[in-house]
Amino acid sequence: MCGIMGYIGKGNAIPVIVDGLARLEYRGYDSAGIAVYRPDNDASEAYLQVTKKKGRLADMVDALGDAPASQLGIGHTRWATHGVPSDKNAHPHTDCSGNIALIHNGIIENYAPLRKQLMLEGHDFVSETDTEVMVHLIEKYYEDSLEEAVRKALGAVYGSFAIVVISAQEPDKIIAAKKASPMIVGLGEGENYLASDIPAILGRTKKVYIIEDNEFVILTADSVTISDFEGNPVEKEIFEVTWDLELAEKGGFEHFMLKEIHEQPEAIRKTIAGRINDGMVDFADLDFNDVLKKINKIFIVACGTAYHAGLVGRLAIEKLAGIPVETDIASEFRYRKVLWQPDDLMIVISQSGETADTLAALREAKSHGIKVLAVTNVVGSAVAREADRVIYTHAGPEIAVASTKAYSTQLVVMYLLAIYMANIRQSYDQDKLKGLTHEMCYLDTMVEQVLKENDALKALAGKYRDVQDTFFLGRGLDYAVAMEGALKLKEISYVHAEAYAAGELKHGPLALIHQDVPVLALITQDKLVDKSMSNIKEVKARGAVVIAICKENLQESCQECDEQILLPRVNPLLAPIISVVPLQVFSYYMALYRGADVDKPRNLAKSVTVE
Ligand code: AGP
Repeated sequence: MCGIMGYIGKGNAIPVIVDGLARLEYRGYDSAGIAVYRPDNDASEAYLQVTKKKGRLADMVDALGDAPASQLGIGHTRWATHGVPSDKNAHPHTDCSGNIALIHNGIIENYAPLRKQLMLEGHDFVSETDTEVMVHLIEKYYEDSLEEAVRKALGAVYGSFAIVVISAQEPDKIIAAKKASPMIVGLGEGENYLASDIPAILGRTKKVYIIEDNEFVILTADSVTISDFEGNPVEKEIFEVTWDLELAEKGGFEHFMLKEIHEQPEAIRKTIAGRINDGMVDFADLDFNDVLKKINKIFIVACGTAYHAGLVGRLAIEKLAGIPVETDIASEFRYRKVLWQPDDLMIVISQSGETADTLAALREAKSHGIKVLAVTNVVGSAVAREADRVIYTHAGPEIAVASTKAYSTQLVVMYLLAIYMANIRQSYDQDKLKGLTHEMCYLDTMVEQVLKENDALKALAGKYRDVQDTFFLGRGLDYAVAMEGALKLKEISYVHAEAYAAGELKHGPLALIHQDVPVLALITQDKLVDKSMSNIKEVKARGAVVIAICKENLQESCQECDEQILLPRVNPLLAPIISVVPLQVFSYYMALYRGADVDKPRNLAKSVTVE
């Protein structure tokens, strides 16, 4: 996610902003920028000095040089969502006059029609970003009050945003507004701060307002006024910060992995945002319908967790779009004699977009003239650049080596794509597709509900902390999730975990089951529950403890299991997004109890750029 910083007061804004952005670097970014107020003098009128660069914060600081002090400024580190990393796409963005500057974290969903209308009205756009629409809207509405112009502009946009705005005409204030993206106000003496996160202002003040959705902030050197978007005053309690910097970077969580597990509802919301219109999935902006309508086979190729997301995507696409799908681990795919057909499509999935094996598979397909669609979390990454089309997950930077929110947002994209293809190919009942689309909008709240099981899962991990071997069982989609659950446990707790198709166990691996091997069984596929239960009986007969991860409406069938983690009722097809969460949390606490380095497990790297 982007890093945001604002300062107004008796001090020099520049070092405060640069230091604050530096403390937000952990959030991941690809460009940085700053805008500071330059008062009028003999030579020229007051103006805003804007410096912004693609690359590291240090590059922006170098470009800024030995700039004179300023008492008003805003700064930003950008995690690209719309528009590749570049100087022009970096924030702050300014209006046509350069007298208004704005920084933003989030996604303006309806930016495309607004941009078109503003251009018709004569506004000059210089970037590819959704953000720039906002500052031109403020310019459009500006008469003699920045506050009023921002309020009007807020009424014209929808999406997620934390915006911070300054104007050379009104240098005594900073205006900010928040919806869905994080924002805090730091309270100083004769100076005040705005930031996207507490680490940015640690060491300067411990008095903070946590800004909530639909709140509007007017910051001066000596005052903070908070209201709702309509102008109604809002009373705030001061939050006294007791965290140190390390804890603050993790949002109060002990590890990035747990923070990112809990960020999944927001990541799911942001990945869906702007892709469901009038109850239907909308990927028209992909401009790929001609291909999607005629493809007769899909190859989904990825590595690790991304591959496991591909397994779910395969079942969803085959069921809804009626297209045969093969899934392959990228490092294996490259050595197959692939029987390409002209209307084949490759889908590569990669959080980092830089995984060497996945990139090699992409290039292999391209070398045969095969179209490639990339699903990635990093704008402008190698797979994004080399694929014919790209659909971005909007998970925000994933710092922990173990992938969690990237996986759930990859699933979201696969579901959306499967529904979209089914729509344009008329391959599935339209009412059922609408129902699925509708239910997708509740996945975030269902994940939030499952996250409340945190303590039960922590206790479960404590109970089995010393095991050496585990099995993860499932059928169909549950088997795909079992594979992801087993990988999570292996890679962060170093406990051996084997995922197996529940129906296959009796063909050999059952010999490994005994009383000291806990079995985690996924039970979310209503039509397969009886068969799953017969497999559970098999392992229980060999003395195994069975931990069921089951939907609450299937609880009756799981009475024989030793432990039950209940999931909300959800369409079986969408269940993986929900059922993976307990496995992530369980693995996290198993690693914690076993003293493993949760965020940086031994032997592993976050992005495997070697073959
Ligand atoms: C996931 O927990 C692992 N860290 C790893 O398997 C990862 O999913 C794999 O390396 C693929 O990475 P990518 O999504 O960036 O391509």
